Amino acid sequence: MSDTASLKLGEKTYDLPVVIGTEEEKAIDISKLRDQSGFVTLDSGYKNTGATKSKITFLDGEKGVLKYRGYSIEELAEKASFIEVTYLLIYGNLPTREQLDDFQFQISRHTLVHEDMKKFFDGFPSKSHPMGQLCSLVCSLSAFYPESLDPHPSKEDQNLTIIKLLAKMPTIVSWIHKKSLGHPIVYPQNKLDYVSNFLNMTFGQRTEDIEIDSVVVDAMNKLLILHADHEQNCSTSTVRMVGSSECNLYASISAGISALWGPLHGGANQAVIEMLEKIRNDGGDTQKWIAKAKDKNDPFRLMGFGHRVYKNFDPRASIIKKSCDDILSKLGINDPVLEIAKQLEEVALSDPYFIERKLYPNVDFYSGIIYRALGFPTDMFTVLFALGRLPGWIAQWKEMRENKEPIGRPRQIYTGETNRPFVAIANR
Ligand code: SDX
Repeated sequence: MSDTASLKLGEKTYDLPVVIGTEEEKAIDISKLRDQSGFVTLDSGYKNTGATKSKITFLDGEKGVLKYRGYSIEELAEKASFIEVTYLLIYGNLPTREQLDDFQFQISRHTLVHEDMKKFFDGFPSKSHPMGQLCSLVCSLSAFYPESLDPHPSKEDQNLTIIKLLAKMPTIVSWIHKKSLGHPIVYPQNKLDYVSNFLNMTFGQRTEDIEIDSVVVDAMNKLLILHADHEQNCSTSTVRMVGSSECNLYASISAGISALWGPLHGGANQAVIEMLEKIRNDGGDTQKWIAKAKDKNDPFRLMGFGHRVYKNFDPRASIIKKSCDDILSKLGINDPVLEIAKQLEEVALSDPYFIERKLYPNVDFYSGIIYRALGFPTDMFTVLFALGRLPGWIAQWKEMRENKEPIGRPRQIYTGETNRPFVAIANR
């Protein structure tokens, strides 16, 4: 493979550097193209455009491969805890026992949320969408920790801001859930591990700690690991874009939460369950709904299906599907929508429309069924996605800042009106 690509424009030829990654991904570096040729490139939705070089996560969409810092998602989901994967993504290596204990201890010292934040909680209508609350509350942390606004903090200060966000996010998420039920909040129990503490704050009562089922803890760890990072997806690109202006971590992550909310992205896990229930209530005719998904005149899409990068099975969907049966049977739950999901998948995967477009189930197709079995309401599913994605967003923001990447500012091709003289309103 040559180390340059030649681009012929009119009479001139431009040599552009070729970049090859450690997993053989290939790119043409166009960073000097406009200076040399006056041309920019156009790529709506950045389907063919790399925004950065990164050492954090690798995806192979054709082979259905996902690795965090070189470790396969299958091994991490099976053998690691979410807090270990959090450490791995942010600091680059799996922690030693001593490093993990210190990391968990540091987090345990910052799990409380400033009591004045309750005024924000109280201001939200009780049925307001949890993602809107989460986005606002995470951004408001910058008001309570003004030291986080320093655009050039010391390594220690930046790490403290990271630790505080990791520590307070589960508390905020559990408080949002409690508010939706009209129940009193449950304070953190720092003797518990990260996931058990979150589950206790979410499902516990103020008067007593609940007996947390190890099946639920294991399932939660696995789901959070599977959502922890996914290279330059919509919400992570948003976090990087906002952070590239030297904006503080809390506001950058809040922007990522907003991007994740959309039903084409993280909001899909809520949309999948709503779709499956609609199909069940409509009599369970999966063929009818597959036909609607294929009909260009029908806005209905098969939520939880398709992916910008995976043109094969999303490895996370495969792991979650396998866990579905296991977790539901261990919890003694029979969820009718699981059968509908399996029927939909079977019909879709044998239909030419989906085969030609390489549309497979993605991470969101089965995850909601497990969240529901664990006791979460549907409108909390995307908040759980955000809780899982938090370490990935932080790792990507940190890498972008450490690499001193420039402020993001894409170009455009203007196609509007050209010179028009102003006309006084009396003459329009
Ligand atoms: C996530 O990027 C990431 O890494 C994201 C994520 C992460 O971990 O961060 O993996 C998480 O966001 C997963 C995706 C969750 N979204 C959904 O499940 C919503 C349903 N899926 C789609 O809307 C769609 O598949 C996207 C948004 C996921 C991908 O869209 P693309 O890459 O822009 O592809 P497209 O919309 O151009 O679709 C290509 C073709 C079109 O048909 P034609 O115009 O070629 O005839 O496939 C069709 C689409 O109409 N198509 C679907 C479909 N998805 C694509 N048709 C029916 N149902 C679908 N779900």
